[in-house]
Amino acid sequence: MKLERSQEYFKRAEKVMPAGINYAIRWMDPHPIYMHKGYGSKVFDVDGNAYTDYWMGHGALILGHANSDVIDAVKARAELGTHLGFPNEPMVELAEKITSTVPNVDMVRFTNSGTEANMYVTRLARAFTQREKIGKIEGGWHGGFDALQIGVHRPFDGKESAGLPDSHASNTILIKFNDENSLRAAFEKNELAAVIVEPILGSGGIITADKKWLTLLRKLCDESGTLLIFDEVITGFRVAPGGAQEYLGAKADLVVMGKIMGGGFPAGAIGGSKEIMSLLDHRNKKRGEVVFHGGTFAANPMTMTAGLETLKILERDKPYKKFEKKSEEIARTLEDLGKDRKISVSVTWAPAVFAVHFMDRKPKNALETYSGDAARTERLHRWMLKNGIIYMGKDMAHFFLSTAHSEEEISNFVEIFDSFLKEEKGR
Ligand SMILES: Cc1ncc(COP(=O)(O)O)c(C=O)c1O
Repeated sequence: MKLERSQEYFKRAEKVMPAGINYAIRWMDPHPIYMHKGYGSKVFDVDGNAYTDYWMGHGALILGHANSDVIDAVKARAELGTHLGFPNEPMVELAEKITSTVPNVDMVRFTNSGTEANMYVTRLARAFTQREKIGKIEGGWHGGFDALQIGVHRPFDGKESAGLPDSHASNTILIKFNDENSLRAAFEKNELAAVIVEPILGSGGIITADKKWLTLLRKLCDESGTLLIFDEVITGFRVAPGGAQEYLGAKADLVVMGKIMGGGFPAGAIGGSKEIMSLLDHRNKKRGEVVFHGGTFAANPMTMTAGLETLKILERDKPYKKFEKKSEEIARTLEDLGKDRKISVSVTWAPAVFAVHFMDRKPKNALETYSGDAARTERLHRWMLKNGIIYMGKDMAHFFLSTAHSEEEISNFVEIFDSFLKEEKGR
């Protein structure tokens, strides 16, 4: 595979951008691959190499790259002005679509990213409960917001970035996913404004919350006046039209959305009951009573249009049963291949997403996820890339499916995975 032009771009980019990239997770050794275009299930780099893409714009592109209906809608919208700076029609329509689709969401407000949505939802929960502490799951990823970029990676002991004030670490109470004792301990002092959880842990390993644990979490929140926030930035409109709430039959007080609902444009949203969301309504409130939210590009008509078109297509085509069947089938097939080759492989999955772990059981939390064979996980990434399959990342092998992935591409994925296991056996 030729990567000469990527190398040239890297040399230029490195001079003008730290590490030559805009997000550390997009790094690849010895240099990043610079992309030119995406179409359907494929991305094409600046050297003209084609890859079957299982990263899908960080999971934002459930319909694949450059879906023609979304592109047409966006083109038509662009001709009317890309950014009006005022409330607009697609904003209202998308808000109506989301509130009629996602359970327990009477009202929404839009942001430009999942990080931003999590920042505002934390503020909203603190204002509503008049408490400061936030419960957060070890290994949970909610973006780069100070209060939540705590305990993301092993050993889950605090701040994940230089420059975070101690006060953030002390106000964030870490909880082990799927661990009842840890959950009860977090509620002992009755001081939590909210617990924020990805009901299907995403970058921590694609692990579904145990029903019993989730029921206990709901009960403890109800008993202590703590708000339960579901971060559905990955699961929203992926695992079911109503996200993980619908898929798992659970109820959140506040829902954070992003990725898919922006149709490939920068997006995020927070939603919840009228009672809670009304704190964002500035009318008839004094300064200090209203929770601020906004932003120059928030609810811009491009994102709203792309998101609306995407949700309409999902509503029309109903791909969810197929996604569920496909993910389950892939998981079973990859695990069987592991058995055949006598290499421990376990696959965790939810509709349209799965993760491969080189261990003999399914991880229950992020600590277990990262206890697998890290070197083998990294080798898998290299092997896949060499064979024209791209995904992120080399530390946790997770794969996003879209409606654009064909049966042939998935069979090809399985074959390449098997060839990897064969290669590993020969090591
Ligand atoms: C569950 C979850 N929450 C929040 C975020 C942050 O979203 P964004 O990258 O749009 O800021 C992500 C991003 O991957 C995510 O997976």
